[in-house]
Formats: sequence, structure tokens, C-alpha cells
Amino acid sequence: MKALDATALDQLFRTARTYNRFTGEVDDATVKQLYDLVKWGPTSANQCPARFVFVRSEEGKQKLAPALSEGNREKTLSAPVVAIVAHDLDFHEKLPYLFPHTDAKSWFDGPQENRRDHAFRNGTLQAAYLILAARALGLDTGPMTGFDAAMVDQLFFAGTSIRSNILVNLGKGDPASIFDRSPRLSFDEACRIV
Ligand SMILES: Cc1cc2nc3c(=O)[nH]c(=O)nc-3n(C[C@H](O)[C@H](O)[C@H](O)COP(=O)(O)O)c2cc1C
Repeated sequence: MKALDATALDQLFRTARTYNRFTGEVDDATVKQLYDLVKWGPTSANQCPARFVFVRSEEGKQKLAPALSEGNREKTLSAPVVAIVAHDLDFHEKLPYLFPHTDAKSWFDGPQENRRDHAFRNGTLQAAYLILAARALGLDTGPMTGFDAAMVDQLFFAGTSIRSNILVNLGKGDPASIFDRSPRLSFDEACRIV
């Protein structure tokens, strides 16, 4: 494997920002292309617990609106698409297909509560893959946890084992909608090599 060039690293990390207002359009082909990258990101035992609802219609956005915190409502309604990143607490049911070389399903059989951490951890990783895949495809993003997850679950996942985790606005970010870049921890503050 070769390191990506500086332009690609800028696009993925150094100049990529979290936007608060969006324009543009995100068509079906782009949404599918996005998932077709996200799905390759690793998860433990290949659980792939994340489930995605890409809300694009006006009807879908109006359904989502009451669950959004006040500060997140306008920006989300402006976004061409908002991805609801959720995870299936019964992800193990698909492990005979997803991890076929051993009986991985049996590791996770039993009460749903025992699968919660796995689903949350790996589903959150998949949300991060979504952000980076979107940037790789030239989309801007706006991840959010300021929403009523119980309400989103009721509105979009009623009667299922799927639970919402993170929303991600997708589109063309409006540069006027961001603050100056906040600092990050230095290597010495956040890391050590032992
Ligand atoms: C998981 C997650 C949840 C977030 N929730 C919210 C939110 O509810 N509302 C909001 O305005 N920003 C939210 N943010 C945005 C962060 O504050 C922002 O990504 C961070 O400050 C870095 O900004 P930058 O990418 O422009 O450097 C969230 C970000 C992440 C990753």
C-alpha cells in the first residue's frame, strides 16, 4: 500500500470540516457508492451492525424534525441528505453469512443486552467510516448526536431491534457556516509510544 498524497490527506482530514449549513444534491447513485465504500470498513467478527436510513425526501425530513435538538433542526433540514446511522442489536443473526468460517453467532446468542456494547462500538466505527467515505467522495458532512434517539427509534425503527446512534448531514457544506478550526491535542498530550 502507498501513502495517499497530501491533497487526499487534506480532503479526508486536514481541511475537512464539520459544516452547519448545506446546499447541493446527493443522488441515489452517490448514496449507493457511499455505502459501497462504508461496508468495507472493519468491524469485530465482521459484525457489520450498522443500519443506515438516508433521509432525503421532504416527508422524511419532516418526520425527523421533531426529534432534532433546536440547534440541529435548521441545518439538518437544509442538508440534501441526512443519514441516520443506527445499529442492529440482533446483528448476530447474520453472522453465519458474514463470518462463515466459524460459529460466531453462538458467541453472541442470549440476552440482547449482552450485544449492546458490540453493536454500539462497531456501529460507531461504521459512522466514522461513513464520514471519511463521504469526504473521499467529495461530500461534506455534519455529524450530530443532538437528537432524541428514543423518538427516532419510534419514528423509523418501531418494532425492530435497530437503535439510532448518530445522524450525519451530507451535502455541499457552506463555508460561511463554520467557526474557526478548534485546536486538537498534540501528539504528546494524546499519545505515547511504549
Ligand atoms: C459524534 C458527533 C456528534 C456531534 N454532535 C453535534 C451536534 O449535535 N450538534 C452540532 O452542532 N455539532 C455536533 N458535532 C460536531 C462537532 O462539534 C465537530 O465535529 C467538532 O467540533 C469538530 O469540528 P471540525 O470538524 O470543524 O474541526 C458532533 C460531532 C460528532 C463527531
